[in-house]
Amino acid sequence: MSLDNHNSVNGLREYARARGAATAYVPVSGPGLRIDEEQLWGALTARGRGPGRYLSRLGRRGGGAPRGLLAYPAQSNFTGVQHPLEWIARAQEQGYDVLLDAAAFVPTNPLDLGRFHPDFTVVSWYKVFGHPTGIGSLIARREALAKLRRPWFSGGTIYAVSAQAQWHVLADDEAAFEDGTVNFLSVPDVTAGLEWIDRLGMDRVHTHVTALTDQLLTGLRALRHSDDSPMARVYGPLDAGAARGGTVALNLLGADGRIVDERVVTRDSAARGISLRTGCFCNPGAGEAAFALPLRRLRSAAGRQLGSMEEYLDLLRLPSAGAVRISLGVSSQPRDIETFLTFVTQTYRDRVPGVTGLAARVGC
Ligand SMILES: Cc1ncc(COP(=O)(O)O)c(C=O)c1O
Repeated sequence: MSLDNHNSVNGLREYARARGAATAYVPVSGPGLRIDEEQLWGALTARGRGPGRYLSRLGRRGGGAPRGLLAYPAQSNFTGVQHPLEWIARAQEQGYDVLLDAAAFVPTNPLDLGRFHPDFTVVSWYKVFGHPTGIGSLIARREALAKLRRPWFSGGTIYAVSAQAQWHVLADDEAAFEDGTVNFLSVPDVTAGLEWIDRLGMDRVHTHVTALTDQLLTGLRALRHSDDSPMARVYGPLDAGAARGGTVALNLLGADGRIVDERVVTRDSAARGISLRTGCFCNPGAGEAAFALPLRRLRSAAGRQLGSMEEYLDLLRLPSAGAVRISLGVSSQPRDIETFLTFVTQTYRDRVPGVTGLAARVGC
């Protein structure tokens, strides 16, 4: 899997590990925090070295290639990086199934599944049209679905079952994976949402968000203290024209060059009626890369049950518990960005904000 992954994908590794399969991360590199393609193909093709050494133990599919699952996001939920969709066919040629996490990509980009054929694609609908929460889709190719084995069954998933003789036959279609009563009150809203997006036109949404991303990145670059030192550090690609979406992760910098504590930003922005996403994000790999945390230091926290979040931050020597994230979407407007940039200038220019009186962090 790519180091840049949401925890909802990272967590899959635990199923794999529980069944004795090896798992490996392909790193991100450079200031743009993109996946290192050379390492990706090295890992997927290598025999006897690197992650490929482990992956090759997983078995073989067509052409004697090593078999496994490549899981990566079409767009990073942390840096906004858009990883190439062309990897899908190339990884499949190497014998891999591909899980494409399209949750952060599809709200502002067209995804043509007639052209790209991931074995599994996941999307989260409220991110596309704001409603309903709790409804996502796993879009699986039929042959991919047929490879999945469920170690349990539940209501709605079986074709036939006996309690006393203790046998069951799973449904032979997607129903085998839909536990319990489907959310029939909200599922139809997805159709209405898709029709709404179709009327707007995803290409127009994309163009709108790309222009806003450019406005934001340009504005952030121009934010300077009076000695010309930067007021913001952006994690990920700095150019809206590059393969990136409208998610921008950053930290604000005080006049002393140090990161402004994210709790200070939360407090000050809320006081101005601005709602910002701050703190840690469900993408530990991208966060570790953004803060350049060495593996040795990360390993030092393995298996330790520390008393508080602050102790983890001290142990990892993190300058902050996270970042500020701005995700531009269909409803964002140029004036939202102007409001944010004005707030930052008026609140932090030439200042070193104090951290007294901040509540302790209670969790990630
Ligand atoms: C790329 C990506 N994957 C997965 C998720 C998880 O989505 P949900 O919380 O709707 O399950 C998110 C949510 O932010 C995401 O951005």
